Amino acid sequence: MKLAVIGTGYVGLVSGVCFTLNGNHVICVDKDQEKISKLNRMESPIYEPGIEALIEMNLREGRLSFSADLQDSVRRSDIVILAVGTPSLPNGEADLRYIEGAAAEIGQAMEGYKIIMTKSTVPVGTNEKIRSMIAAHTNHPFDIVSAPEFLREGSAIQDTLHPDRIIIGLDNPALEDTMRELHKGFTDNVFVTDIRSAEMIKYASNAFLATKISFINEIANICEKVGADVTEVAQGMGMDRRIGSSFLQAGIGYGGSCFPKDTNALIQIAGNVDYEFKLLESVVEVNKGQRFMIISKLHESLGSLRGAVIGIWGLAFKPNTDDVREAPAREIVEALVAEGATVKLYDPIAADNFRQQYDHPNLRWCGLPEEAAAGSDAVCLLTDWSVFKDINLHKLAESMRRQVLIDGRNVYSKEQIEGTGLTYHSVGRPQMGGLSGYSADAVGVV
Ligand code: UDX
Repeated sequence: MKLAVIGTGYVGLVSGVCFTLNGNHVICVDKDQEKISKLNRMESPIYEPGIEALIEMNLREGRLSFSADLQDSVRRSDIVILAVGTPSLPNGEADLRYIEGAAAEIGQAMEGYKIIMTKSTVPVGTNEKIRSMIAAHTNHPFDIVSAPEFLREGSAIQDTLHPDRIIIGLDNPALEDTMRELHKGFTDNVFVTDIRSAEMIKYASNAFLATKISFINEIANICEKVGADVTEVAQGMGMDRRIGSSFLQAGIGYGGSCFPKDTNALIQIAGNVDYEFKLLESVVEVNKGQRFMIISKLHESLGSLRGAVIGIWGLAFKPNTDDVREAPAREIVEALVAEGATVKLYDPIAADNFRQQYDHPNLRWCGLPEEAAAGSDAVCLLTDWSVFKDINLHKLAESMRRQVLIDGRNVYSKEQIEGTGLTYHSVGRPQMGGLSGYSADAVGVV
């Protein structure tokens, strides 16, 4: 089949590239000519392991092309996939301006029957609006399909090629076979439903996963007070298949381009029909607070942070991505600066993106984790990049001014910490070591 994918962000680019792998011809479209030129040079505008090799292979073999001409690409395709962004408006609602713009252009371009498939995350009812927007510009027949995307950054290609399920929302049953054919080889687990339910499945899934994270984070906070270990608790809970073991990793909360945006959008969707989604409001609230647990633990160990030197390990919202959107690191670093600390930052790949969003004279940019730790009063691990797991903790302790390690992702085991001399705080697990009451201020460290 011939496909045009509108939007070359995570969802559009990864889906476009993956659809070439089961025999389709794909044009990835973006109105940003610079992105298109980059892609034609086989450079990916997003960081995603494996994507550039696939772009190169498919470009060479002629199954993939890039274009800034939406209308021409639509005319040359059987199926048009909408994968443009739906960022948050200030009130939390999804901003549909890119969807609306693309829908109008698709309508203007049409010269015959098309299937329009929406992969962007859109509020319930949006696909019906898309239908009216296209119909306002054309008399040619077309069908609308809602096919929400569930890929995760960092494992986007695997998630697309081997998803747990594919959700297809349609109102023309004749399309079912075409949709199965389009996803041939990805999975046989195709769930066909109506359009509105498909739209809701995406929001409900993300909201549920966010709920699991905030739930385990609150359990972690209680574990600290009652002397239990949240990693043991999560393991024990996860053995119940009704609960499942995934997304029960306690930490500093979720970030990224999806969970924060989609939870707020679902609260708005509910609010628009006079329903207060209290549970989800609490999930969001808990998540906002969880990151500041890092600051409380620093206070517990160091007292005042004025004049303290704090090493930060990890700025991306999670490992294997350079994405810092809604990363908890941002507010943590800002709080440290506000309290008068000098902050030494390290991230394997996200530092440039972070720096573009936030910089300050009190920040020191480091090229190695050891450099960020050297001379610090405390090191805070905020993203569980694998490079941190292999750090020599004895050497780390020797290089620091005060030996405090705050592990926001529960990366290290008790055995790794024992004997290092580090005062170790993690999330929902017993504290180890005993530096307390030290104040950088009190001893005149600046
Ligand atoms: C998420 C959804 O998983 C995906 O299905 C959807 O399409 C987009 O949003 P992504 O944002 O790429 O994907 O990352 P994910 O791996 O889900 O992690 C999201 C956040 O939750 C990260 O900040 C991560 O650190 C945090 N998280 C995840 C936890 O704190 N604990 C966990 O147990 C799992």
